Parts: sequence; structure tokens; C-alpha cells
Amino acid sequence: MEPFAERLTAGGLTPAAAHRFRRHLYRFFHDQGRQLPWRATPDPYHILVSEIMLQQTRVERVALKYEPFLNAFPDVWSLARAPLRDIMAAWQGLGYNRRALALQRIARQLVADFDGRLPASVETLRTFPGIGEATAGALAAFAFNQPVVFIETNIRRVFIHCFFPGQSGVRDREILPLVDQTLDRKQPRPWYYALMDYGSMLKRAAPNPNRRSAHHQRQAPFADSDRQIRGLILKALLGSPALSLEDLVKTVGKNPERTTRLIHTLIKEGFLEQEGAHLRIASSAQAPGTDFRDP
Ligand code: ADE
Repeated sequence: MEPFAERLTAGGLTPAAAHRFRRHLYRFFHDQGRQLPWRATPDPYHILVSEIMLQQTRVERVALKYEPFLNAFPDVWSLARAPLRDIMAAWQGLGYNRRALALQRIARQLVADFDGRLPASVETLRTFPGIGEATAGALAAFAFNQPVVFIETNIRRVFIHCFFPGQSGVRDREILPLVDQTLDRKQPRPWYYALMDYGSMLKRAAPNPNRRSAHHQRQAPFADSDRQIRGLILKALLGSPALSLEDLVKTVGKNPERTTRLIHTLIKEGFLEQEGAHLRIASSAQAPGTDFRDP
């Protein structure tokens, strides 16, 4: 199905082609769109939680963790004041734990500087830790129904499939004008849901069009990765209030030098704190001591 590419000329897409593309995607969405819990809420804080979770974790897994997390931290104030330990416990199973730290830092900033409300502007959203271009765009679209132009992995896949048949090394700067020209400005929120669901369907249909993106990166293998060992360190400390370095390294059960190095990184990032000879999960996500940015 590439009925759209022929309309792609130097002048961009014709309005008729843009209309046809939108109609095609809305038909798909009407028949096969996903009903997901974070799509049924107008609460920007709930949408923020979902978008941070969805950055690096699959929809099916997020769907299991999203509601328990919100039951534990129903609003931005409860998340801002929660012990980091409780947040990490609720985050278990989602992976990429730096996001949980970022989420509490965002919550604290919202409470301190924004009256507890998520700002609607992409530029302001971009200033928060853990919020990159794609997440800022998704938040503006989903929490505030703003007609912003952004790309994330599912959206990229749709445009490569529909408008760049047979092409490799497709750059996001080639795709962005098409996102702009096809955007349903009257209802950006359902439009971006439709794009994401169509992209997700295309992923299941081999071959994955994103292999033809110039920005394609596969997720690194988990086994024996730093990511796995970091997860094991946090898990060990969630299992007891505090541990000596030696006991912690033993509990993790991996290479001791590597584990020790990662423990030090976790201290620097603000996950862990030392009290005397013992290590524990930090009491809360204080301002980062290092130049922390989630990928
Ligand atoms: N619905 C809302 N945001 C989403 C996302 N980031 N991925 C998939 N579905 C979503």
C-alpha cells in the first residue's frame, strides 16, 4: 500500500493527497485503534506518567503498570513528596529506571514552579529532565490537544512506509514537513493516536520500515548489560533497607568490579545514598549532582 508517494513532489503534498492519507488512517483507527487507559483521561499528570513510561517500554507492559503507579501516586503532589524507594518499587518491571528519577524531578519542579500544573508549551516542556523532543510533542498533543509537529518511532514508521517506498537512510527532516502537511489541526489528539496505532501495526508486519530510517537504533540486548546489573542493584536494595557495599555486590552476583562501578554511577545520579558503610535507595530525587539527562 503506497498510494501516497506519487503525490510527493518538490512542492510537498497536495491537500487532496493529505486528505486521502488522513482518511486511510482514520479508517484503520476506527476499525483497529487501541483503547488504552491513558487515552481515556484528560488529566495532564496521568498523561505525563504514561508518556514517560512509554518512552522505552512496550504498550502491553505499560498497561500493566500504569494504573498501580497512579493508585500509589494519584497526583503530582503525592509523587513529588514520595520516598524514592516507593517510586522505584512501583517502577519495577518497566526498566530504564532513570525515567522514574526524572519523573519525580519533574513532579517536584511542577510543584515548586508551576502550581502543580504541567505547562502546555513544547519549549517549556523541553526544559524538564527526561523530556526530549518526542515526549514534549506527545504531551502537547495528548494532554493539551495542540497541533504540534513531532516524530517518534511509530510515527516515523508510518511516513517511511507510506511516502518513501524502497528508500533507505530517510532523515527525520524529510519526514517532518509531511507530518506538518498531513496533521489534523482540528483534532491532533486522536490524529496522533491513529498515527501511532498504524505505526504499531506496521511494526508487526515484517519488514519493519524503520530499518530504512537514518535514525534507526535497535534496543541493546539486556542480558549482561549495564542496564541489567543496574536493575539488579536497585532490586537488591528494594529487598532490604540498607546493605554494605560488600553484601550488595554479593547479592547482585555479577562481576564485582563492574558492579561496584555501576553502584558509584547510581550514587552520582542520585539513585543511591551512602550512610556510613551502608548503601540505600536515596530518600528522594534531589536535583542531580551530575548533568543528568534521560536518553
Ligand atoms: N498513546 C498515547 N501515547 C502513546 C505512545 N507514546 N505510544 C503508544 N500509544 C500511545
